[in-house]
Amino acid sequence: MPAMSTKLLEGERALVTGCAGGIGRGVARALKAEGATVLGSDIAAPPQEDGIDFLAADLGRPDGWKDLLAGAVARLGSISLFVHAASPRRQEVDTPLSVSEETWDAMTGINLRSGFFLAREIGRHMRDSNIKGRMLLITSMHRETPRNLPHYSASKAGMTMVMKELARVLAPHGIRVNAIAPGAIPGGGFVAGNLGELVAQIPLGRAGTPDDVAQAAVAILSERFGRYMVGTTVEVDGGLGLLSWIPARA
Ligand SMILES: NC(=O)c1ccc[n+]([C@@H]2O[C@H](COP(=O)([O-])OP(=O)(O)OC[C@H]3O[C@@H](n4cnc5c(N)ncnc54)[C@H](O)[C@@H]3O)[C@@H](O)[C@H]2O)c1
Repeated sequence: MPAMSTKLLEGERALVTGCAGGIGRGVARALKAEGATVLGSDIAAPPQEDGIDFLAADLGRPDGWKDLLAGAVARLGSISLFVHAASPRRQEVDTPLSVSEETWDAMTGINLRSGFFLAREIGRHMRDSNIKGRMLLITSMHRETPRNLPHYSASKAGMTMVMKELARVLAPHGIRVNAIAPGAIPGGGFVAGNLGELVAQIPLGRAGTPDDVAQAAVAILSERFGRYMVGTTVEVDGGLGLLSWIPARA
C-alpha cells in the first residue's frame, strides 16, 4: 500500500500574489512545503533561491489582474488555492489630509480592485471546474481602526467586505473564502517609527514573522484545520489587537 502523505496541501495548485514581499514570500514557501504546486506573482522578481515558479504582473494596471489570471491558468492548468498578499508600501507621509489621488488609486487598485476581481474570477473558475477551492485575502487590523493612512485602512475595510460577499456566494459550491489580519510583521512592508516600543506592548512579547502568518494561512487553507471556516478574519498578531487604553492587569 502506498504511504499516505502527511502534507496538508498535497495536490493543490496555488496562486500567491506579492510573492517577492515578506508575507507573500513566506506564504508561497509554506504552501510549497505542504505539497502544493505554487505559482508566485509580483511586480518585482523574488529571490531565486525560493524555487517558486514565478509570473510577473503589475496589479496596479487596470487589466493587470486579467493578464495574471490568464497566465496563471495557463501555467497551473487550474487554481485551487489563491492568496492575495500584494500591496504597495505604506508611506507615513500619506496622512488623511495629505494623501494624493495617485497614492489612493495605487493602494485601492492593487489591494481592493485587483484583489476583488482576481478572487471573483478565480471563484467562478473554481465553481465552473467543480473545484472545492480556498482563498485568503491578507488584510490588517486597520480594516477596523484608523492608521493615519486612509487609503490603506479603506482598502483593508473594503477587502474585508468583498471577502465576505464572495464567501457567502461561493460557500454553497464548497469554496471557502477567508482573511488573515497580520499584526506587526517586520521583514516586508511593515513600517514602525519605534519597533522596540511597539514590541514591548505586544502581549506575546515579540514581533511577528512572515512564517507566523504563513503557518496560519496553511491551516486555514487546509481541509484538515480550516474546513468549517467561511467568511472570517483570523488575527495573527501575538495579541496586538487586544491593546486597550486601559492597561492590562493580572
Ligand atoms: N508586514 C506587516 O506588518 C503587515 C501588517 C498587516 C497587514 N499586512 C499586509 O500583508 C500584505 C503583505 O505585506 P508585506 O509586509 O509582505 O509587504 P511587502 O511590501 O513586503 O510585500 C508586498 C508585495 O507586493 C508587491 N507589489 C507592490 N505593488 C505591486 C503591483 N503593482 N503589482 C504586483 N505586486 C505589487 C511588492 O513588490 C511586494 O513584493 C499586504 O497586504 C499588507 O498590507 C502586512
